[in-house]
Amino acid sequence: MKHQFPVTLNTNPKAKPSPVGLPFGTYFTDHMFIMDYNQEEGWHNGRIVPYAPIQLDPAAIVLHYGQEMFEGLKAYKTPEDRVQLFRPYMNAKRTNNTNDRLCIPQIDEELYVDAIKALVEVDQEWIPEGEGTALYIRPFIFGDEPYLGVRQSMTYKFMVILSPVGPYFVNGLQPTKMYVEDVYVRAVKGGTGEAKCGGNYAAALKAQEIAHEKGYEQILWLDGIEQKYIEEIGAANAFFVIGDEVVTSELNGSILPGITRNSIIALCKEKGYKVSERKISIDELVDAYHAGQLKEMFASGTAAIVSPVGQLEYKGEKMVINNFEIGPVAKEMYDTIYGIQTGKIEDFMNWTVPVASEDEE
Ligand code: PLP
Ligand code: COI
Repeated sequence: MKHQFPVTLNTNPKAKPSPVGLPFGTYFTDHMFIMDYNQEEGWHNGRIVPYAPIQLDPAAIVLHYGQEMFEGLKAYKTPEDRVQLFRPYMNAKRTNNTNDRLCIPQIDEELYVDAIKALVEVDQEWIPEGEGTALYIRPFIFGDEPYLGVRQSMTYKFMVILSPVGPYFVNGLQPTKMYVEDVYVRAVKGGTGEAKCGGNYAAALKAQEIAHEKGYEQILWLDGIEQKYIEEIGAANAFFVIGDEVVTSELNGSILPGITRNSIIALCKEKGYKVSERKISIDELVDAYHAGQLKEMFASGTAAIVSPVGQLEYKGEKMVINNFEIGPVAKEMYDTIYGIQTGKIEDFMNWTVPVASEDEE
């Protein structure tokens, strides 16, 4: 590792949760990474400290104008006890794209990945072992300057916290139900849809709440202008198998460019599937469903991994997909991606990055 960080060890470590029935995002490890930014020194003073609440000035810009971004990736332990990350440089790149959109200073990609590696190394005993589990890594950045005028912050914190997790959808590989949202919208071209910032999720809560009340796990968002084309799912990208085509919405500026999405497209090509990134209208989906051609739907994301969707509701019509069972493409993608991530199958795509560099192992 190019960058080293001082470590203050937690003298009061917590008990680790059981990997059985592990929920998403409830438990946090013993340490966290924190680094400061100011204009004179840039990013500096990266350090690993015991996990604890932080102090924030009540006038901090993030609390008023939401200047914040976050990422999500995971660490896994292989059967040989090697700790590895999945495509972390893609998270670093996406962070800088988000930062650019939110006027947050750029961060060196090596520094970013080294911070994650260093923290995961300290808390590696927290990586859970059990189907669908992993150590979820949450890097985030926020403007902490106390100032009430509307402009970007002059100071920032970059932090990383870790959470041992099970599948995002409580039933794991059991298909979920999605509600096609046709009142609210998540993003429009020119907005922040392709950035990974907290504000996008705050703006989506209302629709999610309504969908939950109706018994749906998540929302399938339509485009923000005509509400005609499929965008993505609340916390994941959306894939469909229509006839023999595996299809996902093209990146149009308002969809998050998912790393799992990118990996599935690459794997589908590798395995010889016909795979397209294109506009998909909700009408095309409904027609495909009625013609018996909507074979599968699944969500893809770091938290969600690959999660089959068994039912889609649009304008009162409940469409049951693949008899509410996981389909062959979703299963193959889950097995391959999670297999590569956990080192249970060979990383033939060269996607994993060890946490300890070769000479340290
Ligand atoms: N879309 C949204 C809105 C998300 O929150 C996520 C999760 O990160 C994704 C897509 C999937 O992205 P990734 O595969 O990089 O986790
Ligand atoms: C992820 O998959 O990493 C996400 O960020 C989803 C999250 C909003 C729970």
